[in-house]
Amino acid sequence: MQILNTIAELRAQVAAWRRAGERVAFVPTMGNLHPGHIRLVERAREQAPRTVASIFVNPMQFGANEDYAGYPRTLENDGRQLEAVGLDLLFAPPLAEIYPRPLEQMTQVAVPELSAILCGASRPGHFNGVTTVVSKLFNQVQPDVAVFGEKDWQQLLIIRRMVADLDIPVEIVGVPIVREADGLAMSSRNGYLSAQERAIAPKLYATLQATVERLQEGERDYAVLEAEAKTRLAAAGFRPDYFEIRGSDDLQRPTAETQAVSALRIFAAAWLGRARLIDNLAVMPN
Ligand code: PAF
Repeated sequence: MQILNTIAELRAQVAAWRRAGERVAFVPTMGNLHPGHIRLVERAREQAPRTVASIFVNPMQFGANEDYAGYPRTLENDGRQLEAVGLDLLFAPPLAEIYPRPLEQMTQVAVPELSAILCGASRPGHFNGVTTVVSKLFNQVQPDVAVFGEKDWQQLLIIRRMVADLDIPVEIVGVPIVREADGLAMSSRNGYLSAQERAIAPKLYATLQATVERLQEGERDYAVLEAEAKTRLAAAGFRPDYFEIRGSDDLQRPTAETQAVSALRIFAAAWLGRARLIDNLAVMPN
């Protein structure tokens, strides 16, 4: 596996593969890899003979009071995992390679509306940071396919919208959430949990499952279901951020007239200590 740090070196290697007629699949990450990321790389390897992953902790997607400085940077260990799974190229640029000028002077890419709800409402500017860095990485890597995890379902939809709106010729592939044995969605931020919080954390998924069951049984008062779920999370020790039932493909609020219940997905974000956990669950399995 090659490890490259500059856009020029990355472009030269990808251009050589292209001259040889090889397709390229790409997995953008912020590192501190876990089995969920490794699953993304495995899926990328199924998509194309050449695979590139990036590790870049993107300051533009962190709010002023968020965990950018403390976000775990574990490049050596990440590199070992990526090599073991058969990745061809790890792109690990320094900050100045991606943002040669102060962030506030850099051009931004923004997807309106979808970026303003759910996580976007709690983390203003977060998705502009994501779409800006992902569009830059797409221009740098020029992949045929890019792979994203479905834990960040809203992010996945926003990237799909960006690619469609800007005519970016990259196919976007989503990969189902990888969970721990007790149901907790794998996340780099799970490492922030104390032993006591880790024991509580699976209740986020359990609450999503309980709400799905109520919907499948015929309950249609979405506001009541959401309020009940937040009460249940608070009782378990979480500080709920949002718990919302929305259209899976458009993130719109459902109404009885506009939405079949089968097309709904439930989205949750909740704080446990200093970890903000997110998860989502479709009402009908795919
Ligand atoms: O999902 C992530 O890890 C990040 O948001 C991404 C897509 C790598 C952009 O920084």
